[in-house]
Amino acid sequence: MPVSQDLATTIRNSVDIVEIVSGYIPLTQRGKNFVGVCPFHDDHSPSMSVSKDKQIYKCFSCGAAGNVINFVMDYEHVSFIDALNILGEKCGIKVNSKSKISESNKFKALYEIFELSNKFYQNNLNTSMGLSAKEYLKKRNIDQNIIKEFGIGLSLIKNDLLSQLLIKKYAEEDIKKTGLILKTDYGYHDIYTHRIMFPIHDLNGRVVAFSGRIYEHTDNSKYINSMESPIFKKGEMLYHYHFAREECRLKKSVIVMEGFMDVIRASTIGIKNTVATMGTAITKNQANLIKRLSNNVILCFDGDSAGEKATLACANELISIGVTPKVIRLKDNLDPDEYILKYGKDAFLNEIDNALGFMDFKMLNLKNNKNMNNNTDVSRYIKEVIDSLNKIEDDILKEVTINKVSKETGVDKEFLKSKLEKHEYKEIKKPKLKEKKHFDKYQKAEVRLIFYMLKDKEVVKLYRKKITYMPTLKYRNLARIIDYYVKNNGDIVLADFLTFITDTDDYKTATEIISLNIKENYTKDEIIDYINVIKEYNIDSEKNRLKTLMEKETDPKKKIEIAQKILDLKVRGERND
Ligand code: CTP
Ligand code: MN
Repeated sequence: MPVSQDLATTIRNSVDIVEIVSGYIPLTQRGKNFVGVCPFHDDHSPSMSVSKDKQIYKCFSCGAAGNVINFVMDYEHVSFIDALNILGEKCGIKVNSKSKISESNKFKALYEIFELSNKFYQNNLNTSMGLSAKEYLKKRNIDQNIIKEFGIGLSLIKNDLLSQLLIKKYAEEDIKKTGLILKTDYGYHDIYTHRIMFPIHDLNGRVVAFSGRIYEHTDNSKYINSMESPIFKKGEMLYHYHFAREECRLKKSVIVMEGFMDVIRASTIGIKNTVATMGTAITKNQANLIKRLSNNVILCFDGDSAGEKATLACANELISIGVTPKVIRLKDNLDPDEYILKYGKDAFLNEIDNALGFMDFKMLNLKNNKNMNNNTDVSRYIKEVIDSLNKIEDDILKEVTINKVSKETGVDKEFLKSKLEKHEYKEIKKPKLKEKKHFDKYQKAEVRLIFYMLKDKEVVKLYRKKITYMPTLKYRNLARIIDYYVKNNGDIVLADFLTFITDTDDYKTATEIISLNIKENYTKDEIIDYINVIKEYNIDSEKNRLKTLMEKETDPKKKIEIAQKILDLKVRGERND
């Protein structure tokens, strides 16, 4: 690890978790702790608690938990080192590390190649061979500022890039992995020639792919996108995500579009809280990314019927994770780019202000191709609206929609309501609580013992003295790490310990235990009880082991020896020492 544990501890101690977290989400004080709406799941009432004393946060609903470094990592989607960089900046401590690059050393060459290619393409645009491309961009109202802001470039003739990369001595293997070069029977050649190049950035703002647009003529493939690579997974990113983050936070909303040209156009009129799906069906992963940007989502897809379909698909994906988006439907089949060019900034801002609620959009959509004077159509319409409402969590929205449907169809409100499913959302939302019920007596003791081990080194010492091993593998691992930590550090500070855990499974086990609603105070007798339950398990399994051994043993003398051992264990178990 390039950054020392000590530095992480120093930084963690130099910032206050309450201050940092409240920079991301509003917190209110409740007793000793602070509470807020959890940003890591679809939370409506404040489930996240932040402790000033312990310098940790935990969500009682989804089980997210950690120290301030973990919070920044999860909230900002950044690595450990980058989280330290962010926090270090806030408290004036320099993290001397190559940050992002060192974390992803494995793909260092790939990132470099994309970075270099991007510079190379950008430079092409400014040469005499880039004149017609520049002319094209000018015609599309894309000026020099926008070209710079979005890193737009140009690919020219065959094997231009390849020779550049070979001059820089990049390994063929790495060049191949980027997908910028293709191998054919005649050797390698550039994928992109004579295309306007739009770089695509990952969640951290690094160039990881390109989309190349034709500009001199028309052809079947208007855009060619880079193929997937270890650093570019299309379904796990959104165009403009990294750049939109801050703006989404300020504007408290995110606008989702289909094409990157739409995002670029919106930027020319100062609307930058935008991302694009890039024309493919939205994945669950992308829906979660959108939700991370803001809970207030506005879908602004193309005005044509394909755009309408995509709007529905995207909305459904968002609804399944608890976000009900707003919808803009642009007239004349226009896409946002064309709309803004044709009608201007104010008209587009007006569209944003007047975005439809999802259910209003859905109702319009369901009325398409239906004759509302025909009873069969009307009853189908009502059924479909009810189906849709059943997927939504928002009670008030249900009520409002039922009122509207009742008015437009003349069907009694109470009757419509009786068709709604009772939504037991809590059950779906709190799987963690259910899980708790499945703890057997050993697990219950293990979890409680670890919970208090994380609070008090004296409990760790008791564990060390009395327990051979924990019955459950994941708790066994975690308990050993805690023990090791206390041996080395002389004490346990939970917030620091969380940074010390390196394995993600162990970390998950720790957060699972921390976020359980277990009382903070305990007596020594309680601890002894838990220890005895686990010891009973240790003794039982040792007895079983010896019994099997005894059965297999043929030497009568040895058999007796083993029997004596079993007896000793029995006595020990009864004495409980
Ligand atoms: N797309 C693609 N390949 C194509 C067409 C589209 O990958 N042949 C993707 C691109 O990422 C594009 C998005 O789908 O941004 C939306 O497509 P479309 O609406 O056709 O593109 P526009 O944004 O309208 O692009 P332009 O205005 O340049 O025609
Ligand atoms: Mn377009």
